Amino acid sequence: MKMPDSLPADRKATLFAFGGERANSTLFTAAINTLFLREHNRLCGVIEAANPGWDDERVFQTARNVSVVQLIKVVVEEYINHISPYWFRLLSDPSPCYTAGWNRENWIPVEFNLLYRWHSLVPETAVWNGAPMPISGARFGNQPLLRDGLGIALDSASKSQVWRLGLFNTAEFLRPVELASLKQGRDNRLASYNDYRERMKYPRVTRFEQISGDPEVVAALKRLYANDVERVEFFVGLFAEDPPERSAVPPLIGRMVALDAFSHALTNPLLSPHVFKEETFSPAGWASIAKTSSLRDLADRNLPNGTAGLRIFRSLCQIIYFAPKLR
Ligand code: HEM
Repeated sequence: MKMPDSLPADRKATLFAFGGERANSTLFTAAINTLFLREHNRLCGVIEAANPGWDDERVFQTARNVSVVQLIKVVVEEYINHISPYWFRLLSDPSPCYTAGWNRENWIPVEFNLLYRWHSLVPETAVWNGAPMPISGARFGNQPLLRDGLGIALDSASKSQVWRLGLFNTAEFLRPVELASLKQGRDNRLASYNDYRERMKYPRVTRFEQISGDPEVVAALKRLYANDVERVEFFVGLFAEDPPERSAVPPLIGRMVALDAFSHALTNPLLSPHVFKEETFSPAGWASIAKTSSLRDLADRNLPNGTAGLRIFRSLCQIIYFAPKLR
């Protein structure tokens, strides 16, 4: 995602020097990046103090590895648990992957790139510090974050209501992105929605009504695909399905996310048996990994006054169950 060339100089001056332009794409992505940047700097301080003989590069890379593992832990233990409909809680224990044949460097297939484009989830308007803020105006400009601070940003993100994932629910400013996604699926000549269902061990659908109970969705699919359910495309079919109760995502997305997330996140090389040990991360880094399961853990360590009185992430559970469908 590129920064617009026309960005005024005073707005450009509020952007942060992140590793990529995408991190500045909204105030909220900038906030999450800032949180991890602060945690990395904090870890550098702790690791350097405990190892006075280490050069800067070694301190930097060790803190970086600790940050990566902490991110994986937050993803599995907080985020995946949050979006999944299951009642049991997952732990980021990598040991079941040690003997699995698919333990390897992680990579992202095109299907994952498309199925994770949850653009209809993004609302037109978020809440910033108690007041409505259009998201289209919150892009590539970090002035409110500079003014109000990271705590307000994380609290605002946690209190902002997302929209329900699905067809006919994309904010106006993101419609071109949906079009680009459709085009990518066609350019890559992906197999049909039904073929992917079969591959994921779901039965093939034979009627449009098996995809969704929403008559408007069914009518549009029939019109678009000339009454032939075999023609439904992967990208469209994914988002046309109805999410099951307690789930943020429709069934085929849910199954493919689970498969990909676990064959990617937990097979990260840093979690392999000869690497995932105290001497890789230093005793201070290892202890920090053990103490990290949620964004709140990270925020507690990196906000000047901690997180008392702030909502950090978990409250989003409520939001997902009541997310509005606009039409
Ligand atoms: C204000 C919010 C957002 C904006 C402005 C935005 C914008 C974009 C744009 C412009 C692209 C490139 C499209 C293309 O040319 O193919 C993209 C790709 C993508 N988006 Fe978003 N997006 C937003 C939120 C989200 C959210 C909430 C998710 C998922 C939870 C998401 C997931 C993705 C993924 C997986 C890709 C493909 C990544 C890649 O190819 O590198 N986006 N987005």
